Amino acid sequence: MVVDGINYQSIWVDEEDPTVVRVIDQLRLPFFFEIKKLSSVDDIYNAIRNMTVRGAPLIGAAGAFGVYLAALDSVRYKDPLPRIENAALYLISCRPTAVNLAWAVNYTLDSLGGKGESLPEKALKSALEICEIEKENCLRIGNYGLALIKSASKKKNGAAVNILTHCNAGWLACIDYGTALSSVYFAHDAGIPVHVWVDETRPRNQGARLTAWELENASVPYTLITDNAGGHLMQHGMVDLVIVGCDRATRSGDVANKIGTYLKALAANDNKIPFYSAFPSSSFDFEISNGIREIPVEERDPEEVTTVSGISGGEMTSVRICPENSTAANFGFDVTPAKYITGLITERGICRPLEKDIKEMFSDKFI
Ligand code: MRU
Repeated sequence: MVVDGINYQSIWVDEEDPTVVRVIDQLRLPFFFEIKKLSSVDDIYNAIRNMTVRGAPLIGAAGAFGVYLAALDSVRYKDPLPRIENAALYLISCRPTAVNLAWAVNYTLDSLGGKGESLPEKALKSALEICEIEKENCLRIGNYGLALIKSASKKKNGAAVNILTHCNAGWLACIDYGTALSSVYFAHDAGIPVHVWVDETRPRNQGARLTAWELENASVPYTLITDNAGGHLMQHGMVDLVIVGCDRATRSGDVANKIGTYLKALAANDNKIPFYSAFPSSSFDFEISNGIREIPVEERDPEEVTTVSGISGGEMTSVRICPENSTAANFGFDVTPAKYITGLITERGICRPLEKDIKEMFSDKFI
């Protein structure tokens, strides 16, 4: 995606020093656009954990680069592989819900076997390959989603299609393009009028801070709303389509996404508004079928709930929003059961959230 005339991905390898991974620092957006250097497994772990990088496909790619940095560090030892494997486990443990992290880390770990290139060379090749796979997936997802927006636009005789989204499933969360937002960008680029309702997405405000920034950067019309506004808008015919991302989907089509997604799905269902989840197959966990029972939901520091961060006087700052002694709970994700989902937008097409349809589309990956 182009920012200030320069084409960026959300993660890349430094051209001059290939032992350094560079990322856009999402903790500083939308106030400051800054690039951060990550040079060790710990740097990658901390960047994922504190959400310098976040979003399911991106934390997967970051984890893969973590394996690469582990390989670089381990080659000075006699038996490097066990060290790299330990680093891989450590990386996988840092955020539990998005299955993309384990998928990408294991993909890169698996690439290390056999003869030929050195371990770092193999790991780097694999991490870069993951970036290309996910970019291509997002491109395809965007084109499938574009068809949905096109048909919604036709039904409205060309009036702007109002799309509600939650959290940030744009290019920042992926390597490029986005999952939920790629179709919005493609529609906008194709001259189809679109308008996005952006849920602020407490507690970390990925909607207010990242989705709003992305859409503004791409000149896509949007309106920021509080997390509780969506139901009201739907009751008044102000939402045509809901498109969200996904952190882990089951073989039966349940979808875990940022906390609050489920409530949007309920409201969409009550108002007969199509609700789609867009994601690459790296977000599928084909081993599980009951999302509510089987998807691990990350619990984060309650301080994210008791405080809000923003900008004041040109500096980023954090303020407390509740009594000093308030206790708080911070569940990062919720699960939307398949019955509330109209369709899953994947790189292979749009399918109904039904085990038999998913199996048909992903027969080679289905266990
Ligand atoms: O906690 P986050 O910001 O990593 O959560 C991100 C989301 O829930 C996204 O919607 C999801 O990862 C899809 S990203 C294309």
